[in-house]
Amino acid sequence: MTCESTGKIRAIQLSELSGVHTIERMSFPNPWPLHIFKQELTHSWSRLWGVFPAEGGAPVAFLLFWLVYDEVHILNIATHPGHRRKSLARSLLARLQEESLRVGARYLTLEVRPSNDPALKLYGELGFEVVGVRPRYYSDNGEDALGMVKPLNGASVPAR
Ligand SMILES: CC(C)(COP(=O)(O)OP(=O)(O)OC[C@H]1O[C@@H](n2cnc3c(N)ncnc32)[C@H](O)[C@@H]1OP(=O)(O)O)[C@@H](O)C(=O)NCCC(=O)NCCS
Repeated sequence: MTCESTGKIRAIQLSELSGVHTIERMSFPNPWPLHIFKQELTHSWSRLWGVFPAEGGAPVAFLLFWLVYDEVHILNIATHPGHRRKSLARSLLARLQEESLRVGARYLTLEVRPSNDPALKLYGELGFEVVGVRPRYYSDNGEDALGMVKPLNGASVPAR
């Protein structure tokens, strides 16, 4: 898919993971090591997409998710700090929703830190709802995680 303002969204190849890891390191205080991304590419249920403004260039945003039965679970999403507030994450998630509908998924799910205001604003705007709290989910600082869900294909929000 090509979006005039954001660039092309496509699957990321193994040879392009260093660009993903650069974004990861610039985006999180405790970035995932590169080998985790490599491992993800080997799983049949895992998908890693990037936004590429120029063919042959590095990605400027990425989205990692799992397709598990009727659920699409978002594991990681980040935009390079130099490219934020240009609707790149919004475009990735819109494309993900299209794909989720296409494969018949009933839920988009994710976990987010309650302190992550930009991400909470983004997910709230896209229709995700908080459905639960996972206490002390993040090992770096013991922060809780908020579990968020966006129902699809006529599904209802799971009971809390
Ligand atoms: C969260 C993140 C992925 C958003 O990426 P982005 O490409 O800049 O987001 P978008 O430009 O698509 O923003 C879409 C909407 O989200 C909200 N939003 C995004 N960043 C925001 C910010 N810093 N402050 C307030 N609202 C924000 C806004 O509503 C925005 O719409 P607007 O720009 O029209 O006001 C990015 O800030 C990031 O990489 N953060 C570090 C990694 C991270 O926390 N990932 C999420 C883990 S759960």
